[in-house]
Amino acid sequence: MKCKKTLKTILKEKFAEQNIKIEENIIPRAYELFGSVAIIDMSNFEHQKLLHDLSEIKKTIADALIERNKNIKTILLKKNKLEGEFRTGEYEIIFGKDTDCVYKENNCVFEFDITNTYFSTKLGNERRLLAESICDNEEIFCPFAGVCPFPIVIVKDKNVKITAVEKNPYCEKYAIHNIIKNKAKDKIKFYCDDILDFLDKHKKKYNRIAMLAPKINHEFIDQMFDFLDLENGKTGLIDYYCFCKIDKNTDEVQLVKEEIKKKIEEKNLKCSFKNIRKCGNRAPYQYRIHIEIDVCKK
Ligand SMILES: C[S@@+](CC[C@H](N)C(=O)[O-])C[C@H]1O[C@@H](n2cnc3c(N)ncnc32)[C@H](O)[C@@H]1O
Repeated sequence: MKCKKTLKTILKEKFAEQNIKIEENIIPRAYELFGSVAIIDMSNFEHQKLLHDLSEIKKTIADALIERNKNIKTILLKKNKLEGEFRTGEYEIIFGKDTDCVYKENNCVFEFDITNTYFSTKLGNERRLLAESICDNEEIFCPFAGVCPFPIVIVKDKNVKITAVEKNPYCEKYAIHNIIKNKAKDKIKFYCDDILDFLDKHKKKYNRIAMLAPKINHEFIDQMFDFLDLENGKTGLIDYYCFCKIDKNTDEVQLVKEEIKKKIEEKNLKCSFKNIRKCGNRAPYQYRIHIEIDVCKK
C-alpha cells in the first residue's frame, strides 16, 4: 500500500533540497482544512521564528501543502491565536485569494469566511452529541451562535425551535445563508445582536439554553437563569461549556460547579449537574468541558 508522506516529512525534504536551515522541532506538522482553504497554524512562539525568514519559507510551505492535497485553492498562515470579542485570528494569505470556506459535517454544509468569523472543525463530534441529547419540541436559545453550526446540526433531525443570537456582523450573512442552505428556515430564527441587548428587547422564556462560548459563558450565566421557563414546576436546562484545568492535583470542574451553585442560590433557585464530559482540549491538561445544568424553583 502506498503510504502518504506527512507534511513534516515533505517540508523537511524540501527545506533540505533548498538548503534552508531550520530546526526540526519548529517545522509545522499539520494543517486544518476548511473545504478548499487550508490553514497552517504558525501562532505559537516557536513557529513565529520561521515567519521572520519570510518568502522562501512560505513558498516552500505552500508547495508542500499543494503537493499533499491537490484540491487546496487557498492557503492561510495563522499568525495569532484566536482573539477578541469575535474570536477571530490574524491570517496571511500565502497562496490563492478566496478565503470563503465551504465545509461539510454531520450531513450539513457550512459556508463562512474564516478570516472574520469563528468556526472550528474540531467541534463536529460535540455538535452531534449535543444534537443527540435534545428532544423534540424543545424551545432552545443559542447565544454566541457564530455562523450557526450548532443550531443547524441540532435541527437536522429534531423537531425543535431555536433562537440563535450572534454579535459579529460578519457572521450574519453566512448564518442566514447556512440556515437556508440546510433547509432550517422554519426551525431557526437568527438575530445579529449583542446577547444582553437582545434579551432586554425580547422577554421570551426557553426550556433550554445552549451556551456556546466557553471563554465568556461565566460572564453571562446569571442573566440566563432569568430566561428559563420554570413556571408550573418545570425544569429548565443549560448546556454550559467552559475551559477547565484537570490534572492529578487540580479539578477546576468542581470550582465551576460551586460558582454556578452559588449564583443559582442567589436567584433563589436550585440546580443539579449531569452529563459532564470532556469535549476537546486547548492545551495540555486544559479541557473544554460540557456540563448540563438542570434548574428549577425551590
Ligand atoms: C467561541 S465562538 C462560538 C461560535 C459558534 N457557536 C461555533 O461554535 O462556531 C463565540 C461567539 O460568540 C460571539 N459573541 C461574543 N460576545 C458576544 C455577545 N456579547 N453577544 C453575542 N455574541 C457574542 C463571538 O462573535 C463568537 O462568534
